[in-house]
Amino acid sequence: MDSARYDIGMVGLGVMGQNLVLNMADHGFAVAGFDKDAAKAQALRDAAGERPVAAATSLAEFIGLLRTPRAIMMLVPAGPPVDSVIHDLLPHLQAGDLIIDGGNSHYVDTDARARALAAQGIAYLGVGVSGGEHGARHGPSLMPGGSPAAYERVRLVLEAVAAHVGDAPCVTYLGPGSAGHYVKMVHNGIEYALMQLIAESYDLLKRGLGLNNAELATVFAGWNAGELNGYLMEITAQIFAHVDQRTGKTLVDEILDEARQKGTGMWTSQDAMSLQAPVPTIDAAVAQRDLSGFKAEREAASHVLAGPAARFTGDRDAFLASLGDALYAATIVAYGQGMALLHVASQARGYALHLADVARIWRGGCIIRAALLERILAAYDRQPDLPNLLLDPELGAVVAGRQGDLRAVVTTGVALGIPLPGFMSALAYFDSYRSAWLPANLIQAQRDYFGAHTYERIDSQGVFHTQWEQE
Ligand code: 6PG
Repeated sequence: MDSARYDIGMVGLGVMGQNLVLNMADHGFAVAGFDKDAAKAQALRDAAGERPVAAATSLAEFIGLLRTPRAIMMLVPAGPPVDSVIHDLLPHLQAGDLIIDGGNSHYVDTDARARALAAQGIAYLGVGVSGGEHGARHGPSLMPGGSPAAYERVRLVLEAVAAHVGDAPCVTYLGPGSAGHYVKMVHNGIEYALMQLIAESYDLLKRGLGLNNAELATVFAGWNAGELNGYLMEITAQIFAHVDQRTGKTLVDEILDEARQKGTGMWTSQDAMSLQAPVPTIDAAVAQRDLSGFKAEREAASHVLAGPAARFTGDRDAFLASLGDALYAATIVAYGQGMALLHVASQARGYALHLADVARIWRGGCIIRAALLERILAAYDRQPDLPNLLLDPELGAVVAGRQGDLRAVVTTGVALGIPLPGFMSALAYFDSYRSAWLPANLIQAQRDYFGAHTYERIDSQGVFHTQWEQE
C-alpha cells in the first residue's frame, strides 16, 4: 500500500493495541501501528498477514503513513506514558489532527490534556475501552467523550469495531471533555462492586455451606443461566472448573488471596466522595481489596481473634435460593449507586449524559455486561432523568421484594462471622434511601453543640444556633 493511505494510527502495540488494530482491519479500515519495541511491531505484521496493516518503529515513518487530517489512537498505560506519547507525537502533528486516548486515564488528566491540545489546534477524544483482550479483538464496549465533531470523524471505525447487541453498536457519543473516561471509571467502580458481591457469595458457599469447587461451578453456572446472567458470572463459573497445569488441583485454590488494583475503583470512590454522591458498595469493594493486602497481619490475627464457627447448619436449599435472590438485589443496588453517581456527575461536570445510552452500550462487550442492563435501560427509557434506580417502579420493586433475602444473607454472614461488606452496604444503602427520616438531626445537634455550626428546623425557615450547655 502507498504511504499516507492509512485511515487511522495506533500507538502502543501491546496485546490490546494489536487486537484493536486487527479488529479495525477486519472491518475494512487501513491501520498503521507504532511501537518503539521492534518485536511488537513485527508481531503485529505477523498477525496481520494480508490485512491492510502497517507497523512502524519510527514516529516519523508512522506519521507519514497516515491520511491527513490524522486520527491517532493511543493504547498505552494510564498516567505518564500517555503524556510521553503526546509529547513525542506533537512535533509531527498539524492543526486538525486528532488524538484518541483509549486507556483507563483519570478524567482530570483527560480534561487537562484536551485543553492543552485544543490550544494547539489538536482535537482529543478520551475513550473508555472495556472488554479486555478478547473484547479488543472481537468487540469491546467503547465510551467516547470529547467534541462531537471529533467523534464524528472516527464514528464509523468505532461503531464497526464495537461489540453489537442486535444491530446496536456498544458505542455512542457520551458527552464533552472527559465524559467518556468518567463513564469508564464508574464502569470499573461497578465492576469492583459486582466482583466483591460475587466473592462474598463464594465465601458464604465455600466456608459457610462447605461447597467444593465442582459444586461452586454448578451454582454459578446455574445463576448465569438465569436472571443473574452476565460476563462476570460466566467467568466465575469457569474459574471454579479450571485445573492448574502445575499441580493438577483447581487453580483458584492455588491463588494468593490478595487482590491487586490499578486504581479506577478507588478513583470512583474518591470522586463520589468529592461530589457527595455516595457509592458505599463500591467503597466497600475497594476497602476489601485493600484489606486483603494485609495478609501477614490477617494471618497473625487469625490465631488470636476467634469468631464463631463459620459452618451453616440451616436449610441449605432455601439459603441457596435466598443468596441468588439477594445477589440480584445487591447487584441492582451496585449498578444503582454507580448510575446515581453518573447522574450527579453529569450535572456537576457538565457532561449532559444520557444514562439510557450508558446502559445501552454496557449491554455488550464490557466486563459488567449482564442481562440486568436490559431492565436498567428500560428504566431510563421510562424516565431519562431518573436520579436513582431504586426509584424506578420495576427495579425498586425487585429490590424491595427481595429485601427479606438480603436480610437473611446478611444475618447469616453476621452469625457465621463471614465478612459481607458488599451485601451489608447494599442493604444499608437500601434502608437509608427508603428512610424518610434518618438520625442526621442528632448529628446536626452535636455539630451545633460543640462547634456552633447551626442547624435547620422542621417548623421554620432559616438557620438556628442554641446555647446547649446549661451554665
Ligand atoms: C475493562 C476492565 C479493564 C481492566 C481493569 C482492571 O473494562 O476491560 O475494567 O479496564 O481490567 O482496569 O482493573 P483493576 O486492575 O483495578 O482491577
